Amino acid sequence: MKPTKIAEGVYDVGVLDWNIRDFHGYSTNRGTSYNAFLVIDEKIALIDTVKAPFADQLISNISQVIDPKKIDVVISNHTEMDHTGSLPRVMNLIGETKPLYCSKMGAKNLAGHFPNAWNYHPVKDGEELSLGKRTLTFMETRMIHWPDSMFTYLNEDHILFSSDGFGQHYAGFEKFDDQADADLMPQAKKYYANILMLYAPRILKLVEKVVASGIQIDMICPDHGILWRKDPGKIINAYLQWSRQEPEEKAIVIYDTMWKSTETMANAIAEGISSTGVKAKPIHLRSSDRSDIMTDVLDAAAIVVGSPTLNNQMFPTMADFLTYMKGLKPENKIGGAFGSYGWSGESVKLVAAELTAMKFKMIESGPRLQYVPDAQGIEACAAYGRKIGEAVKAK
Ligand code: FEO
Repeated sequence: MKPTKIAEGVYDVGVLDWNIRDFHGYSTNRGTSYNAFLVIDEKIALIDTVKAPFADQLISNISQVIDPKKIDVVISNHTEMDHTGSLPRVMNLIGETKPLYCSKMGAKNLAGHFPNAWNYHPVKDGEELSLGKRTLTFMETRMIHWPDSMFTYLNEDHILFSSDGFGQHYAGFEKFDDQADADLMPQAKKYYANILMLYAPRILKLVEKVVASGIQIDMICPDHGILWRKDPGKIINAYLQWSRQEPEEKAIVIYDTMWKSTETMANAIAEGISSTGVKAKPIHLRSSDRSDIMTDVLDAAAIVVGSPTLNNQMFPTMADFLTYMKGLKPENKIGGAFGSYGWSGESVKLVAAELTAMKFKMIESGPRLQYVPDAQGIEACAAYGRKIGEAVKAK
């Protein structure tokens, strides 16, 4: 993709990664982009780079705007290698002694990734860098997404370069929110649910602080996906809502199954929930990607989990999913556990223990049925679903 002028003297020189489908375990069905930005003033700044295999494209894009050797300063908002993989090439090209601005933790982390003797300028929250007529302000945003993360704000143009914050894995020639298709917000939500949810309390404070400061934001430029120029407030408000983890009147029934018994139970429970007027859906683990399931978890009020017992354990796919969900720290959830078994039947107890450890408010012990559910067993599942539905409505 060619460089895009996004404001006077400001260019996106990043690249599209159409074909990535697995971003260390996260399903990126729309591909992604690695955005990087040039700010041209009396001094020329490059903000972030791209993943290593795309270094040639980045350098070609920069070259279409200016001679890369004219870059005076480099800013690294975040050390993760989708944004720094090309940094060694860039520094080598422009001169290893050019100043490299990053957070204090960024300097430490960059040195841990790339053996180098770069000219680090670690910055503090609120520190400014004059480019001549324009000024950059650095904002500490620790844990969005790593301890080194920061945002960079272009004061005069009111542009926020937000690194991973407000991003989405969305590849497309369209560059801005007013050009993107209806998948933009679902992809932004999926990104938040899988990358940032565990930092929700910290993100809430940070976004509230930015809103309270009254800082004017005309454009938000994340390092992934679409740039927000038409309605930056839309994604800011979505982040406030997601970070508060206020659930919708919705329940999901996540299950795996061996001989369809746990599936029969899951369907009956979901139907029972739905009969109370609460939105419900069964989700089969091996038919869904766990990162899509987490997107549903983000705004669900109740998470009901079903597993057969295999070799005295819960089903292995469920152990995988519960580990993933636990790490993302969903809050404010009602929980339920159920399952089928042949002769020992430990899974329900094991699943319930995991959900309890996640501080879910458990709705008593769910149905635990041997072999194939009969009519009475199916009714017990529906009744359990109704109980969950009523608990969601009472929340
Ligand atoms: Fe897009 Fe945390 O890197």
